[in-house]
Amino acid sequence: MSKKVLILMGSPRKMGNTEILCGEFARGAKEAGHEVDTILIREKDINGCVACGACRRNGGTCIQQDDMQEIYGLIEAADAIVLGSPIYYYTWSSQMKTVLDRFYAKSPHLQNKTFYLVSACHAGEEKYTETMLDTFRKFHCCFRAGGNGEGGYVFGLGAGDPGDVKDSPAMQKAYEMGKAV
Ligand SMILES: Cc1cc2nc3c(=O)[nH]c(=O)nc-3n(C[C@H](O)[C@H](O)[C@H](O)COP(=O)(O)O)c2cc1C
Repeated sequence: MSKKVLILMGSPRKMGNTEILCGEFARGAKEAGHEVDTILIREKDINGCVACGACRRNGGTCIQQDDMQEIYGLIEAADAIVLGSPIYYYTWSSQMKTVLDRFYAKSPHLQNKTFYLVSACHAGEEKYTETMLDTFRKFHCCFRAGGNGEGGYVFGLGAGDPGDVKDSPAMQKAYEMGKAV
C-alpha cells in the first residue's frame, strides 16, 4: 500500500551529508511506490514555540502564522515522518529543534505515525551518537499514546565535510529504510 512520507531536513548546509542521506531515503521510498514530500527547513520561516498554550486550549491549533502551518498539514497527512538532522553538540541542529518544539501543538493528536531518524556527524564512533538517538526516542515517545512508533535510524559516521557520507554504509542503510517504509 502506498504511504505518505514526510522528510523534514534540518541541515543548514546545501547538499550536506544529512541532505544526501535523506535523498537516499527518499529514493528508496519512491521506488517502493510511496509518496514523498521533502521540506528543507533552512528555506522556511519558522519561529520557536512561545509556550502560549493556545494549542492546549483550542484542540491543537498553533496560532503562530508562519511556514509551520504548511508543515502541520503535511505532518497530519503523513504515515512516516523522517527527522533529518546533523549532530550539533551531540544533538539536533537548532533548525531541527525549532521544528520539533512546534510539534507541541500536535502532541496529543498524532495517530499512527512511524518516526525515522536520519543523521550525520564528524565523529566516527557510535558512542558519539548516543545522545542524539536518546533524544530522538524520547521525542517520538511523547506521541506514543496515538499508536506512533519508531521505524529506524541511520547515522553517517565520520562525515565532517559535505559529501563525506557518500563513502559510508549509511547510504545503503538510508536507501533500504526508505524502501522498507
Ligand atoms: C555547530 C556544530 C556542532 C557540531 N557538533 C558535532 C558533534 O557534537 N559531534 C560530531 O560528531 N560532529 C559535530 N559537528 C559536525 C557535523 O555534525 C558534521 O559536519 C556533519 O556532517 C554536518 O552535517 P551536514 O553536512 O548535513 O550539515 C558539528 C558541526 C557544527 C557546525
